[in-house]
Amino acid sequence: MRTYLVTGGAGFIGSNYIHYMFRKYNEEIRIINVDKLTYAGNLENLKSVEDRENYTFIKADICDAEAINKIFEENDIDRVVHFAAESHVDRSIKNPDVFVKTNVLGTLVMLNAAKASWEIGDNIYKEGKKFLHVSTDEVYGSLEDDGSFFYEDTPYDPHSPYSASKASSDMLVKSYMDTYKFPANITNTSNNYGPYQFPEKLIPLIINNALKGKNLPVYGDGKNVRDWLYVEDHAKGIDMVQEQGRLFETYNIGGHNEKQNIQIIHIILDTLNEMLDENDPRRANVSEKLITYVEDRKGHDRRYAIAPDKIKKEIGWYPETKFEDGIKKTIQWFFENEDWMENITSGDYQKYYEEMYE
Ligand code: NAD
Ligand code: DAU
Repeated sequence: MRTYLVTGGAGFIGSNYIHYMFRKYNEEIRIINVDKLTYAGNLENLKSVEDRENYTFIKADICDAEAINKIFEENDIDRVVHFAAESHVDRSIKNPDVFVKTNVLGTLVMLNAAKASWEIGDNIYKEGKKFLHVSTDEVYGSLEDDGSFFYEDTPYDPHSPYSASKASSDMLVKSYMDTYKFPANITNTSNNYGPYQFPEKLIPLIINNALKGKNLPVYGDGKNVRDWLYVEDHAKGIDMVQEQGRLFETYNIGGHNEKQNIQIIHIILDTLNEMLDENDPRRANVSEKLITYVEDRKGHDRRYAIAPDKIKKEIGWYPETKFEDGIKKTIQWFFENEDWMENITSGDYQKYYEEMYE
């Protein structure tokens, strides 16, 4: 039985990945989820798997080398899938330090622990061990509105403290592959959306605000473009890269689904109107009048777009979920999980929201 060490599995993509993996492999794998449970980590996301015998949760900080080494000493880990990170660009602009600590130093701790546990000779590793570092397309910087794409060999040009910290962590992973022949892959992925996404990110924030009749904040002119990918397609891509990809390679995972932020907001409003029952009182809240243009994000990248050509050609992965379907599934999930949203948006979130959008 393969044993996975998943970091950040209580977050948005990590929890979707864990659900995907249990759906796909069921009893064939064991997953150990290591998460510090920051504001973004939520064990509610994993309620349906927590009683499985082949699932273990360990609360730990990836910067704590002693705790991470202990996990490797006590378990024969075959795969590491490294999601844990500070992930929100706006927070990185206000408080960069924790981004460098978790994203850079935490990744170094993970690399060192896996290397120490897996290395059996000089640059020789136990058979079949693999580390996958989950990263972002933001490391490549910003594109013009000219139809160009990010490729795996696009030079790094990060602009925000978040993307700079992710770029640094990618470089560390690359240096371990180049110097120590450390068995790893890097994936750089575009904007994800789907169930369990924290409502600091555009799509869940707009869904939640629209249903409550609150302003829908649009940064700048609303014409910045993101390339949206349904999170389950991302989870599938990660698994395919780890099992079928060439070691030491980077794979870009993208949605081929570019949309301006303002288009996303209109699609969400239209879809909410279409999906809400005639008699649902929230229907009266959903209105274009809520759209509010606010001050732009500092250093706001204009456009992201990934050409997922390499992963398609080598591995056969492609973004399966059409945006029209993915956004309906996402909205349906939020309809069915109102308590999840209420729990998350009470308490600290209120303070964050007031400070961020004052
Ligand atoms: P998230 O913020 O929803 O979740 C991050 C998780 O990491 C949380 O559970 C949090 O508790 C945990 N964590 C944070 N610091 C930790 C620490 N020091 N030790 C242990 N656990 C810690 O993030 P996400 O959106 O799920 O992103 C996951 C990964 O995917 C990140 O590495 C991010 O850079 C990358 N990524 C995200 C997107 C996206 O659109 N969300 C796109 C591309 C890549
Ligand atoms: O591209 C991948 C990246 O996508 C990931 O690496 C990051 O972890 C993830 O957070 C995401 O970053 P973005 O900054 O692109 O996502 P966000 O949802 O914060 O914003 C999407 C776009 O919407 C961006 O152009 C900013 C804009 N925006 C965002 C918010 C929260 C608004 O106009 N208003 C808002 O209130």
